[in-house]
Amino acid sequence: MKLAVIGTGYVGLVTGACFANLGNDVVCVDKDKARLLLLNKRQVPFYEPGLPELVAKNITAGRLRFSSDIAAASKKAEVIFIAVGTPPQADGQADITAVAEVAKSIARALKGVKKFKVIVNKSTVPVGMGDFVTKVLTDNRVPEKYFSVVSNPEFLREGSAISDFLNPDRIVIGASNSRAFNVITELYRSLKAHIIFTSVKSAELIKYASNAFLATKISFINEIANICERVGSDVSEVAYAVGMDKRIGREFLNAGLGYGGSCLPKDVSALIHVAREAGYDPKILASVNEVNEYQIDAFIGKISKTLKTLRGRTIAVLGLAFKPETDDLREAPSIKVIKALVKGGVKIRAYDPAAERPARKILPEIDFCSGVYDAIEGADAIVFITEWPEFRDIDLIKARKLVKQPYLFDGRNIYDPKRMREAGFKYIGVGR
Ligand SMILES: NC(=O)c1ccc[n+]([C@@H]2O[C@H](COP(=O)([O-])OP(=O)(O)OC[C@H]3O[C@@H](n4cnc5c(N)ncnc54)[C@H](O)[C@@H]3O)[C@@H](O)[C@H]2O)c1
Repeated sequence: MKLAVIGTGYVGLVTGACFANLGNDVVCVDKDKARLLLLNKRQVPFYEPGLPELVAKNITAGRLRFSSDIAAASKKAEVIFIAVGTPPQADGQADITAVAEVAKSIARALKGVKKFKVIVNKSTVPVGMGDFVTKVLTDNRVPEKYFSVVSNPEFLREGSAISDFLNPDRIVIGASNSRAFNVITELYRSLKAHIIFTSVKSAELIKYASNAFLATKISFINEIANICERVGSDVSEVAYAVGMDKRIGREFLNAGLGYGGSCLPKDVSALIHVAREAGYDPKILASVNEVNEYQIDAFIGKISKTLKTLRGRTIAVLGLAFKPETDDLREAPSIKVIKALVKGGVKIRAYDPAAERPARKILPEIDFCSGVYDAIEGADAIVFITEWPEFRDIDLIKARKLVKQPYLFDGRNIYDPKRMREAGFKYIGVGR
């Protein structure tokens, strides 16, 4: 099929490259000229394993192109994906400016075009956005017989985005008619995935509900961790056994510094806003965010209490990205921890395998190091924030010799406390 994908971020570029690889003819559109320049040179503007190769392969095969011309791409395409950002506003509600802008551009482009098009919203948007996009088109005199708006939320995770896109647990297609549903089903047919057909409004809520549930699991186990600390239990043991219950499941039951990133925090806040707008004050969701914020404050509190004073200390921070295998720093716990420590007078020596480049822009006040051992040399404490695999294999004897003081704050509970103590470290985890 001929496809247009508007927005070349984590979701749009992965969607475009994967659909091209499945044999479709894809034009990826962005308004960011610098980004397009890079993409045309076969460079991916962010870190996502396997994506540069997939993009290059499909450019070479002539199935993937990049453009700033949303009108031309929309006119040619049978299916138009909207995959632009929906960042949070100060009050938590989703900022839908970019989606609205794109909808207007598509509407202007499709005026007078007498071919049926499916417009697919892949961005995470408040319930009712499908109706909104439909209205933008009809207001611009695009007759309803020539288009249909579908909600097809994306569930990929940064760091494993390609494999998640190609092997999804489910594909949700929210459509108001079977013609549009059939077009999108056909597009996904080769993935052999479980397809769920819903109303547009249900599909929009499914995305928020899924992310809110994942966030709830994290805050739930963090709440249990906070109880563990006070009663002498170890949350790792508790979570393992609780998660073995098939009704509960092991995933997203790791206590620590809580969730960050471009999705969970903003989607929980946006859902709270959606609920309140609709006249319901959500109780669980508000607490989910509250526990998440508490985790960071409590962690900073532990560091300052243990070190007695922060002023003049040097702390090695290992891991900056909001999770491993990405360079995304949006809502990353590292930023809040580092800013608080710097405010307290700490000198930070940080290392992250992928996120140094974007971090330099956000955290100009810290020192960036070339590796783990470089960062920890002479440090009063080591603080682990992101569970990058390479951090699990540190030479403990070498590390112990390099630090000035042996305090180790494990914000992700990646280490065995006993092993750390045997290596001479004073280990402080979360809920253990
Ligand atoms: N990142 C994820 O892991 C993830 C996963 C699932 C869903 N989502 C959702 O998908 C959407 C996109 O997220 P993302 O992380 O890919 O965003 P992103 O910020 O990485 O990328 C958005 C892109 O859209 C472009 N853009 C903005 N306005 C535009 C316009 N008017 N015309 C053309 N291009 C425009 C930007 O330049 C940017 O390149 C969001 O709603 C997000 O919540 C994200």
